[in-house]
Amino acid sequence: MTNSDVTALDDPVGQSLRGHHAHLAQRLGRVATYVPGVATFSAVPVDAEAADWADLAQLLGGGQFADLFSSTATPPSDWEPVFVLEGRQMIGPADGPVEPTDVVELGTADVPEMLDLVTRTEPGPFWPRARELGTYLGIRDGGRLVAMAGERLRPPGWTEISAVCTAPEARGRGHARRLIGALSALITARGERPFLHVAEGNKGALALYERLGFESRKPVTFRGFRTP
Ligand SMILES: CC(C)(COP(=O)(O)OP(=O)(O)OC[C@H]1O[C@@H](n2cnc3c(N)ncnc32)[C@H](O)[C@@H]1OP(=O)(O)O)[C@@H](O)C(=O)NCCC(=O)NCCS
Repeated sequence: MTNSDVTALDDPVGQSLRGHHAHLAQRLGRVATYVPGVATFSAVPVDAEAADWADLAQLLGGGQFADLFSSTATPPSDWEPVFVLEGRQMIGPADGPVEPTDVVELGTADVPEMLDLVTRTEPGPFWPRARELGTYLGIRDGGRLVAMAGERLRPPGWTEISAVCTAPEARGRGHARRLIGALSALITARGERPFLHVAEGNKGALALYERLGFESRKPVTFRGFRTP
């Protein structure tokens, strides 16, 4: 049994910062963002006004990056657009097959290797303190980290699976399948359901997620801006 209301996925960043990740949040008025190094996602209300944008600029500081995919509000014209990328939000099965697995939990000592794997595979945004958002799992081959995946946003009833990546030389061996399976088992065991975000152009990842039973919920526009 899960208690996962899909409306929590309409603003997963705001819902996480107000809930499970409140201890990792900086807040001012109606806006919030993650502490530096954990994530660059910010939450603004859909009806954001000049005062809200001023509050977010104050929280982030001048010339800083703001990742705003979770809200449709448009920042003032002096916020410089940095990137726009079309993607989609997908919802995972309430329970999937649990395969025997060789995954290990990754800790603080593994962060340099995690950052190196992300640099080589480019799974999407990842930060030095991202593993404080949830559980990160990895697979080692000959001692070397060759695949990982972890928990990121946590709106009530849901956990986002993120940073799914396998080193190029280790692909096609089911590493991503086993990591997503192990994370999904952790998530569903606490009565939640997995979800994730993927870029529309990432056909390999889309094929992987569809193969594992994830279904598309809504289109998402990943958007980054620089504060004035
Ligand atoms: C996407 C990625 C994580 C897949 O890792 P992997 O360990 O090779 O995946 P698996 O071996 O577990 O694949 C499981 C299933 O997904 C499907 N799949 C995986 N990669 C695929 C691809 N490039 N094209 C089509 N299908 C693919 C296959 O159907 C496979 O099932 P099968 O073994 O029954 O055929 C890997 O290619 C990668 O790191 N890409 C770069 C980073 C990235 O884009 N991450 C996702 C961010 S949203």
